Amino acid sequence: MTEIDMERIPKHIAIICDGNGRWAKKRLMPRSLGHRKGGFNIKDVSKAAERLGVKCITFFCFSTENWNRPKAEVDYLMSAPIKFLKRFHKDILNGTTQIRLIGRKDRFTKEFLDTFRDIEEITKDKTGIRMNLCVDYGSYEEITTAIKKIASEYKDGNITLDDITPELVTKNLYTYDCPPLDLLIRTSGEERISNFLLWQLAYSELYFTDTLWPDFDEKELKKAIIDYQSRDRRFGTIKDENK
Ligand code: IPE
Ligand code: MG
Repeated sequence: MTEIDMERIPKHIAIICDGNGRWAKKRLMPRSLGHRKGGFNIKDVSKAAERLGVKCITFFCFSTENWNRPKAEVDYLMSAPIKFLKRFHKDILNGTTQIRLIGRKDRFTKEFLDTFRDIEEITKDKTGIRMNLCVDYGSYEEITTAIKKIASEYKDGNITLDDITPELVTKNLYTYDCPPLDLLIRTSGEERISNFLLWQLAYSELYFTDTLWPDFDEKELKKAIIDYQSRDRRFGTIKDENK
């Protein structure tokens, strides 16, 4: 298959945006310039996904473990989104994208949180693509937080043990209002999940590409979707003709 089937576009795509540092190194540039290019790319790939009819796109931008990088790099990664969102404020206001910050919220500066709160507020009624930016995100933390919320509901007598179902867990994750995850993409040749959306990807298709994140463009996205459309998704059952 070389053409996209517009009738079978994945509703929800998640991307582990990896390879910014190597992209910069290859060009003898500082890593921060790779992150800068990678940041712009989030906007471009989201636009491309929206044009193709994707409803929700989730980007892994900064993990709960990325705080362990050198301070200068962490400082850059924390300040870049603020500058970026301020620079594109007017476009975001006039655009169609609904933006949401996903992850822990207790380790950011006030400026970081205020900037995102403003962006979430001005985009909350947008009807175009939903863009989740996972920053200080880790699946262990997300699932642990969900367990704590459910345990506290149980302790308060609001739910019984029988109410604790996979659906209830799903509803308590940060992605509670997103469609099921159809396709997970990781760039830069690494074939790992790295504590990303562990619960959500139970039945997702996985796609790995050697392309570094700053080079991943609309053409690459289409390639990933065409590959996804060639998969036989059975969700644990078998094909009708074999039943
Ligand atoms: C991904 O690029 C961006 C973040 C994790 C913030 P990397 O910074 O991991 O780039 P490489 O893996 O060193 O090339
Ligand atoms: Mg990396």
